Formats: sequence, structure tokens, C-alpha cells
Amino acid sequence: MAFDPLEQTGIAVEDQFRNWSELNVTPFDKDTVDPYTRTRVILMNGIEVESILFSHQFARQTDNLELKRALAMSRRVEAHQQKVVNGLNPGDQTPLETTLGYEQVAVDLTAWLARHEPDPMLKQALDFALLEDFDHLYRYANLYDLLYGGHADDITQHLTEITPGRPTILEHRHPHDEVRKHFETHAVDPLSRMHVMTIVAGEQQTMNFYMNHGTDWVEPIARGTYAEIALIEEQHVTHYESLLDPLDSWIANWVFHEYNEVYLYWSMMQHESDRRIKAIWELHLNMELGQLQVACDFMRRYEGRDAAELLPPTLPDTPVTFEPNKDYVRQVLAEQIDLRTDGVDYVDVDSLPSDHRYFQYQALVNEGGAPSEEIIAQKLAKDSREYRDETEGEHPIADLRPQHAR
Ligand SMILES: [Fe+2]
Ligand SMILES: [Fe+2]
Ligand SMILES: [Fe+2]
Ligand SMILES: [Fe+2]
Repeated sequence: MAFDPLEQTGIAVEDQFRNWSELNVTPFDKDTVDPYTRTRVILMNGIEVESILFSHQFARQTDNLELKRALAMSRRVEAHQQKVVNGLNPGDQTPLETTLGYEQVAVDLTAWLARHEPDPMLKQALDFALLEDFDHLYRYANLYDLLYGGHADDITQHLTEITPGRPTILEHRHPHDEVRKHFETHAVDPLSRMHVMTIVAGEQQTMNFYMNHGTDWVEPIARGTYAEIALIEEQHVTHYESLLDPLDSWIANWVFHEYNEVYLYWSMMQHESDRRIKAIWELHLNMELGQLQVACDFMRRYEGRDAAELLPPTLPDTPVTFEPNKDYVRQVLAEQIDLRTDGVDYVDVDSLPSDHRYFQYQALVNEGGAPSEEIIAQKLAKDSREYRDETEGEHPIADLRPQHAR
């Protein structure tokens, strides 16, 4: 049942600190965990990281001591929450296995958001990047097999297909073609705002993870792949953040952040199969309700407006859900594989003039080959076949079927 978060007091922020043993949680078992529990953990860690970094940026823009202290207080408990959520990842889950989880998040979160997005412009933005993260999953799965003989479906459990998307080598675009038009804050559906905030946080955390873990390997092919895909995640952050209306005040953005955290913890609770982890989502929901109260109080006193004017009367009925999106992804693959961007527009690759900056940038970065292609070449040389997990039949795009099958 949906409810109005503004009518719930939750846990007061000053009562939200936890001790070291409470923060040092027992991780899940990587062999028995529900793959969608892993994706919930990855997403909510990214949401907490976003809330912390947003709060730091806000604090650097204000000289008001009361506001700085309130931000420091809320930020400290956000940091406690981040430790608990990220601490659910087990130490025997390698960075590459975690990476497969990150791309499973990217595929099934993006596809779910696109399926439920009311604004066609925002849906197009989600569909566009969906095909790219879908391809990353395939590249990393082949890297996992190449380096360790690992099977990525041990992580994904066949809930998400693993096969080429828009090939990573073709995703490298000039920065000017990564900036989109933004929604209008006064007209946007509140659900759309939350969708965009959620995907920005998810992509930002993915970018940071690859940025920090890209040098965990000795093998040049792994280091190169992380560098290449980290730069696509940088493009994705630029793409998605440009959808947000810059007109909103810092305090309004604070309110929106807390409200989105409420919506997401409430969402994660709805389908969590692990009872212990479900209790964490529930606790954090109640913490976010308390944090939301503080942000709304500042809006009332500093901007003279009620947060209820900006927020929907109740939470959306539908929780953000991790579930298979195989048919949807295949449909977008079939329809949009050849889309590129030209400034703020999406266009077919065939309509771009041969001297377009897209091709110039491609020629520059892909000169000498791309690691994302080299993985597949090495995997074919080793085993005569790529790693794929196509559970719904052959690839919808003939050119992307295995070479021996064409
Ligand atoms: Fe939080
Ligand atoms: Fe990705
Ligand atoms: Fe991405
Ligand atoms: Fe929060």
C-alpha cells in the first residue's frame, strides 16, 4: 500500500547513529544469494553514495552554520547507512564478479525504469544507454571466462541474458553529443524525476567503481577493459545528469534526494527474499523518513514553502522492481541498435555525415584497437567460441549472432 511519507515521522536523525559492530554487518553468501538481492545491495549503496556526495557539494555552497551542521548530521547517518548496505557484499566476491552484478543492475534497472517512464524523451534516454550497459555485461562475462574460466550465469542466474548489445567500440562519442535536453521541474511527473535521480546515482556509482577497481588486475586486457568501459560510464553520467532541471534550489534537491531514498527503500522491501536484509531496508526506510523531515523543515523555514507543494500526495503505487526484462531488451535491440546521438538528438548512424565528430572521435580513441573487442578475439582464439547466455533464442540482430552461425 502506498503512503504519504510526509505524514510519517520515522526515526529522528539524532537517534540514527549505530556502533561499530552494528555497522560491520555479516555479508550475504555469494553462492546462494538471490541475484536480485545482490542488485538491490549494489543499487542502494549507489544511492547512499550519491546522498553523501550531494550533501558534501551542498555544504561547500553555503556559509550558513545551522544548515552546514544539519547537513553534517544527516550526512553522517547516510554514511552509516552506506557502510551497512555496502558491507553486505562478501569479501570472496571478486571485483569482476561484483562488476557482473553492477551491469546486471544497469540492465534490469534501466529496462524497468524505461518500461515505467511516462515521458517519451526520458524513456528514449533510458533505452539508448540500456543497449550499451547490456553490451558491457557481455564483454565482462567474456573477460571472466577468459581470465578465470568463470561462468557469468553463476552470478546472473539466467535472469538477464548475456549477449552483444550496441558494441562497446561504437559507444565512444564526442562529449558534445552526450549532453541532452532537461525536463522542466514545474511540469515533470514526480515519478520521472525519481527515475532520473535513481539512474544518475546508479551510473555515477558504476563509473566510480570502475574508476577505482580498474587497476586491481595484472593482465593488460583487464586493465584496458576497465579503462574503456569506465569512460562509457562517464558518458552515461553526463547523459543522464543533463536530464535534470538545474533550476531547482539546493534545498529542494535535498528534499528530492531524501524523498527518493524513501521511495527506493520502500521499493526494495517489497520483493526482498532475504528476511535479514529486508529488515535492513525497513530500518533504512524509517531512517529516511526522519531525514526527510529535516530537509522539509529547512525548506519551510528558509524558502517559505511546504515540501508538499513539490512532492506527490502519496508514494507511487508501483515499487521499483528487479525482475527479468528479456523481451523488452530484445525489442529495444531490434529497434534501436543503430541509434547514435547528434547534439541533443537521437539519429540513425546512416544519417551522420562521414566527417561528423562522432567518427572523428571514434577514429582517435579506437586507433590501435579496443580492449572490448580484444577480449572477444582472445576468447575465440582460446575456446573457438564466445561466452553467451541467450535463453530466449538467437540474437535479434543477424550481424550480432556468433560468427559461425551467420
Ligand atoms: Fe540514506
Ligand atoms: Fe555499463
Ligand atoms: Fe552505464
Ligand atoms: Fe537520506
